Amino acid sequence: MAYPDIRPRRLRRSAAMRRLVEETRPAPAELVLPLFVKEGLTDPRPISSLPGVVQHSRESLRKAAHEAVRAGVGGLMLFGVPTNEHKDETGSFGIDPDGILNVAIRDVIAEVGDATVVMSDLCLDEFTSHGHCGVLAADGTVDNDATLDLYARMGVAQAEAGAHVVGPSGMMDGQVGVIRRALDQAGHADVAVLAYAVKYAGAFYGPFREAVESTLQGDRRTYQQSPGNIREALREVDLDVAEGADMVMVKPALPYLDVVAAVRERVNVPVAAYQVSGEYAMVEAAAANGWLDREGVMLESLTSIKRAGAQVILTYWATEAAQLLRDRY
Ligand code: PBG
Repeated sequence: MAYPDIRPRRLRRSAAMRRLVEETRPAPAELVLPLFVKEGLTDPRPISSLPGVVQHSRESLRKAAHEAVRAGVGGLMLFGVPTNEHKDETGSFGIDPDGILNVAIRDVIAEVGDATVVMSDLCLDEFTSHGHCGVLAADGTVDNDATLDLYARMGVAQAEAGAHVVGPSGMMDGQVGVIRRALDQAGHADVAVLAYAVKYAGAFYGPFREAVESTLQGDRRTYQQSPGNIREALREVDLDVAEGADMVMVKPALPYLDVVAAVRERVNVPVAAYQVSGEYAMVEAAAANGWLDREGVMLESLTSIKRAGAQVILTYWATEAAQLLRDRY
């Protein structure tokens, strides 16, 4: 028998050895917790397709923000859900300083603004009566340039509310540049833009649509990307960096790790990945059936997303994962 001289298993023989040579470990500070706040709620309301995630009241939002910060989470991403009376054709309550998202930004900034990075989703879909990410032209298509004017105003409103980072997620052409200029002109040069540069029009956002009570009929394929395209993704990233994006995001995460890796190779700004609602819901559903080890899959998926090149990960597990990671290392 010829026995091997070279034995990789030597570096796996004990937990201490494995810990010493482990290449990738997600850290709490790299995790960002998405949070939903619904106008008019007195108590948090569960989201059935996102077990463990809720629509927050203003009060419970502040508590959840504190809990995340205490666990060491690096940032929070806020989504506002207005009442139906506050949805209209142009999503005007997304811009109104008294709209739920802007109110929530002020609340969270007052509560934990010095201790974490407060980010806000910059998109109209929660605020429009038709559920699209922009305003509609007469023929029913989403009007890119008319939407840009609204995004610019929404970005400034979020900055005035105190957001440290705005996250344009509507996939309109030119959105990063227009928002950057508007922020600068309004005296908010220090507010960063996290561009949802690569956002695929797939089926993984289903539970999110329940979370924000989306009214969308149809799909977003005229503005979000086709799942098979990676060169197009890199083109979007190049444009966003040229327009001034401080960070770029790929979304969803796990089904698109090749895209995360390619974007990491391409640019030097931090790359974020969004482990979206459908990714979370699949694991929660399987775990609830006893088919998967929930914590195991949670940490393995976050490790994989980081290994692919994401430096920042948005995940609904952020607080719990941060606690687990702190106990573990
Ligand atoms: C748009 C937005 C969406 C998500 C984040 N920002 C919905 C969409 O594009 O349809 C999805 C996030 C998730 O599924 O967890 N405001």
